[in-house]
Amino acid sequence: MTGKKLEGGWRRNIYYASHKMRDSSIYFDRVANDYEDMSKRGIMGWLKRKERACILDFLKKVGSGRVILDAGCGNGYYSHLLSKRGWKVIGVDKSINMVKEAKKRGIDVVRGDIYNIAFKIKFDGLLCIGVSEFCEDFEIALSNLMSHVRRGGWMILLLPRFNFWVIIYFLYHISHGILIRISKVSQLEKIIVSKGFEIICVKKPTPISQVMLLRRTDDNA
Ligand SMILES: C[S@@+](CC[C@H](N)C(=O)[O-])C[C@H]1O[C@@H](n2cnc3c(N)ncnc32)[C@H](O)[C@@H]1O
Repeated sequence: MTGKKLEGGWRRNIYYASHKMRDSSIYFDRVANDYEDMSKRGIMGWLKRKERACILDFLKKVGSGRVILDAGCGNGYYSHLLSKRGWKVIGVDKSINMVKEAKKRGIDVVRGDIYNIAFKIKFDGLLCIGVSEFCEDFEIALSNLMSHVRRGGWMILLLPRFNFWVIIYFLYHISHGILIRISKVSQLEKIIVSKGFEIICVKKPTPISQVMLLRRTDDNA
């Protein structure tokens, strides 16, 4: 940081956020230990329960499969949920401390960035829950993720909605020094179609989130 001297706390966070998006891993590394408790409490707990119900409902539609990639798995919350239901899950996350937390849960997880992960296998399904807003250009990451799904496979994406409530979500992250990005659904739709996927269902379980179920219908990607 150069130039004007800034005091700590929110001023420094706003400075960071307005000048350069701080790598969200700094934040997720810091909160990894408490993340489970944080996501059970208050509004965050309410949001997580609603989103989880929607994701579980979508999973009933995809039928049985074998190997799932949980992209941006965090502490392995969804990986664990799916493992308990008999899926083989591989998690990937950029935050080293989140990876440690997921390992404690017994998840097969690797540290990596969804922009450039390169697994040799194709997955039956892929989850990307609450990650897009932390990516500077989620379209690029999405294209890479899609190339990891087999023909006939599926993908579940949880993204923020663009409405009034997003301002509160945005300010919440600014207060932690993170500038979130909201992807334009129309832009994502173009990529989804160009990569041979179709949108099967979209639900809005909470005022700030939407969940998309996609299926890969052809192999021209
Ligand atoms: C809000 S948490 C969601 C975690 C988990 N999907 C869940 O729903 O409980 C977002 C996670 O995405 C991870 N993340 C952000 N950008 C990433 C990237 N480019 N590659 C891999 N992981 C990323 C963060 O480290 C963090 O663990």
